[in-house]
Amino acid sequence: MQVNGKHYQTIWLENGTVFMIDQNKLPFSFEILQCHSWKETAAAISNMTVRGAGAIGAAAGFAMAQAFLEAPANSPDYLSEAQKQIEATRPTARDLFYASAEVFKSGDKISAVSRALELAAQNAEEGRMIGLHGHELIAEGTGLLTHCNAGWLAFVDYGSALAPVYESYRRGRRFTVFADETRPRSQGARLTAWELVNGNIPHYLIADNAAAYFMQQGRIQLVIVGTDRVAANGDVANKIGTLEKAIAAKTFGIPFYVAAPLSTFDLEANSGEDIPIEYRDAGELLFASGPCEDGTIETIRTAAPGTQALNPAFDVTPAEYITGFITSRGIIPAKAESIRKLFKNELKL
Ligand code: MRU
Repeated sequence: MQVNGKHYQTIWLENGTVFMIDQNKLPFSFEILQCHSWKETAAAISNMTVRGAGAIGAAAGFAMAQAFLEAPANSPDYLSEAQKQIEATRPTARDLFYASAEVFKSGDKISAVSRALELAAQNAEEGRMIGLHGHELIAEGTGLLTHCNAGWLAFVDYGSALAPVYESYRRGRRFTVFADETRPRSQGARLTAWELVNGNIPHYLIADNAAAYFMQQGRIQLVIVGTDRVAANGDVANKIGTLEKAIAAKTFGIPFYVAAPLSTFDLEANSGEDIPIEYRDAGELLFASGPCEDGTIETIRTAAPGTQALNPAFDVTPAEYITGFITSRGIIPAKAESIRKLFKNELKL
């Protein structure tokens, strides 16, 4: 994706160092963070310098490759310990486990680096294909709702939910995106809005609790969201708040699509009940930070001192609320049978 006239990917690996766009600094400043060790890369996943299912999958693959590069000789447990710590950073996104396991299996330094690079390239390609399959859902004049950030920042490139948006716009269709702010970390307000401004795509940022109102008003005709993990029965884990958007969409008869890279399907999870839900620090709800007029970053309280907060980062939307999955192989119904067929001739990713 272009930023200030230059092509960037969200994350990349060069000579053993992981480079990533610092998403905690966006949209107020555009900075690249360098992680020189697997521990630094793992920390960047935990503190959400890099976030979004696809991007953290690539980061986990790169971190695992760095662990191979750093592993001392005669230290048999080093790599499995590194894998355990990398996987503990964020438990919900399937891509993270997929990538760390794939690189772990590769067996030596050179193969580990090349497998991690291959997975990152595959991650971008999945987004590109999702765009090619999904753009036809967006008719001229559509009001399209999206939640959180499932754009190119959430992947190595292209994105998932926003890939059809970019492709449709590139083909000359005109429509309006409604981006939920996505409390408490405001990925919609900070990241999706920044991507859409950057891509000149007409959009409105809306408050998290405004989507049902705009559906009722007839301003939204389509919902596309991303996902962190899809269970075998089609239940979907995605950013907290996705479930209530799906319930509202069903109430108003609005199609609700999930853009899902193949690496996001977890066929070992029978249903959403098998998907671990990450809880994050209550401080994300109790405080907010941003730049003052002079550019210094200030943190302010947003709630009554002394209150307790609960902060689940994801929820599970049952398959019955989902119209279909936009995948790199085409659009399929959110049904166990369709998912089984999708993987029948499983391709090596
Ligand atoms: O907590 P985040 O910002 O990593 O969560 C991101 C989302 O929930 C996205 O919608 C999701 O990863 C799917 S698209 C990559």
